[in-house]
This record gives sequence, C-alpha cells and structure tokens, in this order.
Amino acid sequence: MVLGTHDGRKGWINRLAVAKEFRRQNIALKLVTAVENKLDEPGIDIIACLIEPGHTVSRIFFSKLGYTKAPVEYFSKKKSIDA
Ligand SMILES: CC(C)(COP(=O)(O)OP(=O)(O)OC[C@H]1O[C@@H](n2cnc3c(N)ncnc32)[C@H](O)[C@@H]1OP(=O)(O)O)[C@@H](O)C(=O)NCCC(=O)NCCS
Repeated sequence: MVLGTHDGRKGWINRLAVAKEFRRQNIALKLVTAVENKLDEPGIDIIACLIEPGHTVSRIFFSKLGYTKAPVEYFSKKKSIDA
C-alpha cells in the first residue's frame, strides 16, 4: 500500500509498505512511481518522505528512486507521552 498527499506545494509519501512475501518484486517502486505521476497532475515539484533512523532498506529504496536526504530537523508536539 501507498498513501500520498499534497498541500498544493509539497507532496508526501505518507505511508508505504509491501507485505513481506511480496517484497523485492518492484511493487514499492511501482507504487511510489504511481504517486509521483499522480502528483505531477497538479504540478507538485517536490515530494518528501520521512525515514526513521535505522530503516536502512527505506534509505536504500528512496535513494534508488532519486530522493536525497534534506537538512531538516523534525519537530513534533505530543498530546501525551504515549502519543
Ligand atoms: C521498503 C519497502 C516498502 C520496499 O518494498 P519492495 O516492494 O520490496 O521494494 P522494491 O521491490 O520495489 O525495491 C526496489 C529497489 O529498492 C531496493 N531495495 C528494496 N528492498 C531492499 C532490501 N531489503 N535490501 C536492499 N535493497 C532493497 C533495491 O534497490 C530494489 O531494487 P532491486 O530489487 O532491483 O535491487 C518494504 O521493504 C517494506 O514494506 N518495508 C517495511 C515498511 C517500510 O519500511 N516502509 C517505508 C517507510 S519510509
């Protein structure tokens, strides 16, 4: 599955996952490419995703698709310690 969104300026790959038994068949590659093509329609020129530390496969995967690491700091506000 893939979930992509945009806010009119920037696009996001919000969620991406392929079931273990179907991995390494270029399914994620096709899913992300489909989102990228869809985001072309409203003229979105930048697409981002968040990768947590240690997710080496995701880093390799998105690098292969041309994504590069951006110099940003991630800020969040939690309503509770469990959020
Ligand atoms: C990351 C994930 C979505 C990749 O899905 P996938 O369908 O297996 O990926 P693809 O087959 O499209 O891989 C495309 C390329 O990415 C790279 N890649 C994918 N999985 C890899 C792995 N386990 N090790 C090294 N490279 C890998 C390879 O370059 C691959 O091309 P190749 O098979 O021709 O060498 C999948 O591993 C997954 O669901 N992981 C758990 C959830 C997750 O981490 N989501 C991303 C959150 S940012």
